[in-house]
Amino acid sequence: MAGTDDLAIVELSVDDAQAGLALSAEAHWNQNEADWRFFLSQGIVLGMRDRDHLIATAALLPYSAGNAWISMVLVTAKWQRRGIATRLVDACLVTAKRRDLTTWLDATPAGAAVYGPLGFTPTLELRRLRLTAPAQEANTRAPPAGNLDDLIVRDQRTIGFDREMLLREFSERAGSRLVSAGSAMALIRDGRVARHVGPLFAQDAPAAVALVDAVSQSETRPLIIDAVHSQADFIKGLTASGWAIERPFQRMRFGRPTTQGAEPPFAVAGPEFG
Ligand SMILES: CC(C)(COP(=O)(O)OP(=O)(O)OC[C@H]1O[C@@H](n2cnc3c(N)ncnc32)[C@H](O)[C@@H]1OP(=O)(O)O)[C@@H](O)C(=O)NCCC(=O)NCCS
Repeated sequence: MAGTDDLAIVELSVDDAQAGLALSAEAHWNQNEADWRFFLSQGIVLGMRDRDHLIATAALLPYSAGNAWISMVLVTAKWQRRGIATRLVDACLVTAKRRDLTTWLDATPAGAAVYGPLGFTPTLELRRLRLTAPAQEANTRAPPAGNLDDLIVRDQRTIGFDREMLLREFSERAGSRLVSAGSAMALIRDGRVARHVGPLFAQDAPAAVALVDAVSQSETRPLIIDAVHSQADFIKGLTASGWAIERPFQRMRFGRPTTQGAEPPFAVAGPEFG
């Protein structure tokens, strides 16, 4: 088995979007090329290559007010369990420390096993839910369009720092929709295998569930949503409407606590973005 010590950590560029996509598709993740382009242009994406072949990645995405997200921690199956993810995440943390950034991530169970020993501590939990068969035919009762400035303000209130750059980029993508009904508002964007609903804000669980029901009746592709686990009535409402819980994610933080959001959202933008 080849060693990994001679594999250098390199910084990737937007030219690596397709190779990154191949790695996330291998892990059956939902990111598409637009997601990779966002990380590669707005963040610092580190990788390792075996000859010309990209075999591993980890991304550090700086946000605002001293916060950053770590994501896209991927190691191709053949190279797993040789310390590569640990080296790449450690390199992200060195960069974050240099910039005095508190780092956050949403870990899969396998990822949490890597991050715990590095010093990340758990915060809230998420549940990924999937609706494989929404409406057969998009009906005309689609929820009305929401206001992007409102979404940005509500996002900042819940996560505790500004993510205008991310939310504007999402909403400008072809196929994205920003919808609103009553107190609820959600962004929907394309993914590789499913459309992603989130972030989603609402005053209460019934309003959040009603908006998701309206969205699912106006969408024809499979949908996924990353719900905050403590929003128990929301998750109960979704499962009653046919959504299936697929997997957990554990939010973790490395570094000093920064501003806490006032209230958790019902669903987040995605584990790769927070
Ligand atoms: C999770 C993943 C990135 C780990 O990459 P890796 O290079 O194999 O990780 P490391 O070799 O640095 O692992 C360090 C330690 O973490 C733990 N660990 C890593 N993968 C694990 C797994 N699948 N199950 C349980 N523990 C695991 C082990 O304690 C390991 O040390 P050991 O091999 O000496 O026992 C890789 O399995 C992967 O790409 N998985 C699919 C995508 C994914 O889930 N990414 C994480 C997103 S948060």
